[in-house]
Amino acid sequence: MEIQALGYLVFGADKLEDWTDFATTRLGMQAVDRGAGLRAFRMDDRRQRLVADASLPAGSRCYGWEVADAAALDALAGRLDHAGIAVEHGSAALAGRRCVAGLIAFADPAGNRLEAFHGAQIADAPFRPGRMISGFRCGPLGMGHALMATTDMARGLAFYRDLLGFGVSDYMRAPVQAYFLHVNARHHSLALVEAPMDGLHHLMVELYSLDDVGQGYDLALADGGERIAATLGRHCNDLMTSFYQRTPGDFLVEYGWGGSTVDPANWVPTEMDAVESYWGHHGLMRAIGAPEPPPADRRPGGGCCARRSRSWTATTAACRAPARGGMRRRRRRRSRPGAAGRRGGRARPGRSRAEHPCRTPPGRRDRRHGTHGSEGRSCTHPTS
Ligand SMILES: [Fe+2]
Repeated sequence: MEIQALGYLVFGADKLEDWTDFATTRLGMQAVDRGAGLRAFRMDDRRQRLVADASLPAGSRCYGWEVADAAALDALAGRLDHAGIAVEHGSAALAGRRCVAGLIAFADPAGNRLEAFHGAQIADAPFRPGRMISGFRCGPLGMGHALMATTDMARGLAFYRDLLGFGVSDYMRAPVQAYFLHVNARHHSLALVEAPMDGLHHLMVELYSLDDVGQGYDLALADGGERIAATLGRHCNDLMTSFYQRTPGDFLVEYGWGGSTVDPANWVPTEMDAVESYWGHHGLMRAIGAPEPPPADRRPGGGCCARRSRSWTATTAACRAPARGGMRRRRRRRSRPGAAGRRGGRARPGRSRAEHPCRTPPGRRDRRHGTHGSEGRSCTHPTS
């Protein structure tokens, strides 16, 4: 697989001043002067990661997927061409605007514009955040993840998984169809969720500190809370603690901390069967146009609580006892994503921990306890 990370996102915008205020004072990004009609924002040592472009129609996006070098870009272009995908070789002028050495552009089956690039430029000066944050977790994990709604999951999977080589981390066939795909150790750099429309639902950016997220949440509350599309909560697949903010555009930003990592070479996809988070994220389903799930049973030993990992349950004595019992009798479901046969089981309040698939099997490294790998940082997740 040539693609290594989500490197940048360019989007059409008509409220550039609003974007500058939001990206700097709320998200903590650094605004960079790129001339009239363009607002670029830094998240790390690169010259830009997020770009609002007034010359593009509102609602348009360019997803920048990074490859290692020019040879990898050529190989990807050749493979796309062989598959009948039209490939446009980016001009030097376009590469300059994207601050990369070279790029190609093509479209996914839904018509989303994708760009693959190599040689991202590094800024001359250190990253200076727009507000006091510890920094964004980027590096080899890329700038975050994108969740894209798709009207045709089979077509989307054939493109991203089978043609581009994205790996499946988790997937869900019911109550909604969703696939979480990785291209590096980040649990997912792309999520596809079947919906009545195609397009970007949210961009996730991850902070190095939970305090950064909490302070961002406080800022959103101080604004009256209208910007909050989903409350602070913790996901049960990538374990991200996050909240969702409305932006000056028509997509959301998930602002998170503590996402898990995967080992792409050995990862075994897991089927999920529940949409709710461990806690919080109220309003998220409404934000994607789906009804809110019924309140989960969060009693120790049942519902959401039953899905918590050993490391997570160890933080609360109430959860510890049922977790141990579950370890002895659990039945873990695994199957190849896309395999025939839909299971009938759905999340039910009070279902046993033994039945739930969102757990770490014996002998496999606990996702919550892996180091952050090549970033060279120690894991900051709760430990037992
Ligand atoms: Fe997300």
